[in-house]
Order: sequence, then C-alpha cells, then structure tokens
Amino acid sequence: MIFEWARAVLEDDRHYYFFDDIEALRKQMLSTSLTLEVEDYGANSSNGIPVRRRVSLRQLAKRSSSSPVQGRWLFRTAQWMRPKRILELGTGVGIGTAYLTAGAGKQAKIISLEGCPTCARVAEVHLNMLHISESVSIRSGHFAQTLSRALQDLGSLDLVFFDGHHEGTATIAYFEQCLPFSHANTLFIFDDIYWSADMTAAWQRIRNHPRIRFSIDSFDLAFAFSDPAIREKQHFSLCPIHWKPWRQWM
Ligand SMILES: C[S@@+](CC[C@H](N)C(=O)[O-])C[C@H]1O[C@@H](n2cnc3c(N)ncnc32)[C@H](O)[C@@H]1O
Repeated sequence: MIFEWARAVLEDDRHYYFFDDIEALRKQMLSTSLTLEVEDYGANSSNGIPVRRRVSLRQLAKRSSSSPVQGRWLFRTAQWMRPKRILELGTGVGIGTAYLTAGAGKQAKIISLEGCPTCARVAEVHLNMLHISESVSIRSGHFAQTLSRALQDLGSLDLVFFDGHHEGTATIAYFEQCLPFSHANTLFIFDDIYWSADMTAAWQRIRNHPRIRFSIDSFDLAFAFSDPAIREKQHFSLCPIHWKPWRQWM
C-alpha cells in the first residue's frame, strides 16, 4: 500500500489546471486588504465559546489554509482513492476543500464543517468560483454540534480530513466519533500533528489505535489507513528524526 500511495502522491508530478485556479484564488486573498469578523474556536476560545475578532483575509490565506504542497497531496490522495464520501473538519476559507473536491471528482459527496460562519461563506464563494460547489455541503457551527449530523448524513466515510480544533483530547474524540462510520479502506488525514506536544501525543495514540494498520507521517500531513488486510502494523515517517527539534515530546 505504501508503494501505491507513494507512486500516486509523492512521485506523480503531473500538473492540473485546478492547481492554478486554486492558487489564483489564494493569490487574490493574499493581495487584498479586506478584513473579516470571524468567530475563532481555536486555541484562544474556551468551553466552546468562540472569540470574535477581526482578521485579514490575507492572514486566513497565509496562516489558516493548506499550503500549495499540502493541497497537491490532498488532491492526489483523493484522485488515487476516488472516495465517494469525504468529511473535512475545519473548512477555513475552502482551500483544502477545493483540492480534495477537485481530486475526488464528481462522484464524491463532501461535507465540510466550519465553526466560523464568515469563513464558511467565503469558502462557499470560492467553491462557486471554481465551479465545484455542487458536491460540497459546508456546515457552520462547533464540531460538537455539527459532527454527529454530518456522520449520519454521510452514512459511511471513505476519507476524513481533520484540520481544525488542534487540541489532543478533542482530536482523539472526533476520530473516535468517526470510527463507527469507517470501513476497511477509510483513510484519516491529520494536519498539524506537530502543532503542540499534545497534538503529537494524540497522533501517536491514533496511529497506535488497533483500527489503524498503517500510517505515514510526512510532517506536513499525517495519514492513517484502517485496512485490516495489513496484518502487521506499519508506520512510516517521511521526515528524518534529526529534522525534528520537537522530538523531545515523542
Ligand atoms: C486550519 S483552518 C482549516 C483550513 C482548511 N482545512 C484548509 O485546508 O485550507 C481550521 C478551521 O477550523 C475551524 N475550527 C477550529 N476549531 C473548531 C471547532 N471546534 N468547531 C468548528 N470549527 C472549528 C476554524 O474556524 C478554522 O477556520
């Protein structure tokens, strides 16, 4: 499986016009002086109560969106897997959603959850501009309020991208909530596993979970496969340990 994935994701350097379209949107955001009123459920919020603040669209594009490299990995992974049901936790302004949707193709149904209503609206506009909004439903609200319904609506999960609420206990809880909806070939992708010691510990628990048979840590993104056909648990790190100054947490 590692070889198939590596061939499809790491070695494939084909360029798709979608990459240009999505990066043109990012460029537009980076060059605007627009600011937005956002509801932030991130590290500064507590008890699920969002912090309201103004933030520039430039910041959202720069700091809170998947990078072009991550985007291409998401695209190629989705293109390789051809998932029919995708769940994303943390839409942001829709960059990762766009890469996943474009890679998965028209047959996929995508639900993306976003706490901040303004970000959710911006993401919707972006997906409309890219002409890929038809298969995507963006749902606004705290994951604690939206996840359960999203799981019921999808029924089963082929690919889940965890990219919001970067807190260890919460990440594990969302992962465990998704598990009953997973199947032999479900792929879980995590961003920001080196965001904090807590997130790194959560990733280690997830990759050691009995349902996870195979995992890849690319530093940028982490991939956990649940394929029970893999009898011996395997973990691959694509980033040498001496590149990891945070290794004291591990
Ligand atoms: C890193 S951004 C998502 C980036 C996007 N996935 C991409 O690939 O471009 C994380 C998003 O998660 C949202 N978020 C964080 N905690 C949340 C929570 N508990 N419930 C709902 N949304 C949350 C934030 O509002 C933020 O927009």
